[in-house]
Amino acid sequence: MGALNLAVLISGRGSNLKALLTACADPDFPARVALVVSDNRDAAGLGHAETFGVPGTVIERRDYADRPAFEAALDTAIRASNVDLICLAGFMRLLSADFVRRWWNRIINIHPSLLPAFPGLDTHARALAAGVRLSGCTVHVVRPAMDDGPILVQAAVPVLPDDTGQTLAGRVLIAEHEAYPLAVRLLAERRVEIVDERVLFVDPTLAARFGPESVLRVP
Ligand code: GRF
Repeated sequence: MGALNLAVLISGRGSNLKALLTACADPDFPARVALVVSDNRDAAGLGHAETFGVPGTVIERRDYADRPAFEAALDTAIRASNVDLICLAGFMRLLSADFVRRWWNRIINIHPSLLPAFPGLDTHARALAAGVRLSGCTVHVVRPAMDDGPILVQAAVPVLPDDTGQTLAGRVLIAEHEAYPLAVRLLAERRVEIVDERVLFVDPTLAARFGPESVLRVP
C-alpha cells in the first residue's frame, strides 16, 4: 500500500502543519504532504511548506463570487494533487455540507479541546471559566456541523490553578503536535474504521493496547 497523500489546509501560524510535515519527512511514516492550501496569503504556515519543499497554494474566499465557487477551486486544486485525505489544521473556515459529503470520511480536523466539550472559538477561555481539571485536544473526522464527527485521537493535559488561556493553549498545543500525526498514521495504516459514527480499531487486540494511558503510543 502506498503512502497516503495529504492536503493540509491552514489559515495562520501552521504549527500543526509543521508537525505533519515533520512526521511525513520520516520515510517510515505512511503519509506525505502533497499540497498545502492557505485561505490567507499572509499565513505564516506557508513558510513551513516552503521549508519542507512542499507545494503551497493560496486560495482566498474574496477572490471568488460565492462559497460554491471558492470550494470548487479548493476541490480542483486538491484533486489535481491526487489527495487521499484532507487535514484541516487551523483552517478558520467552515466547509459546506456539500464539500464535506464529496469528501466523506476523508477530511479530518484538530480542535484544542476534549470534544464534545467546548466546540467553536475561545476554547481555552471557556475551559478555564468552566473550571475543568483536564483539557486537551481532539482529532476527528469532519461532519457538516462545526467541530463535530467521529473521534480518532484525543490527548488530555492538566489544567493548572494559575493557568491563563495562553499557558493552557501552549500545553494543549504540545499534545496537538503528537495527536495529529498519530491520527494520520491510524488512518494510513487502515487500523481504524468508522462504524455507527464511532471510530473503532479494526484489530480488537489493538483497542486493548490503546487504553487511556497509551492513547498517544503507536504500537
Ligand atoms: C490549533 O490550536 C488547532 O487545534 C486549532 O487552531 C490552532 C491552529 O494552530 N484548530 P496552528 O496554526 O496549527 O499553529
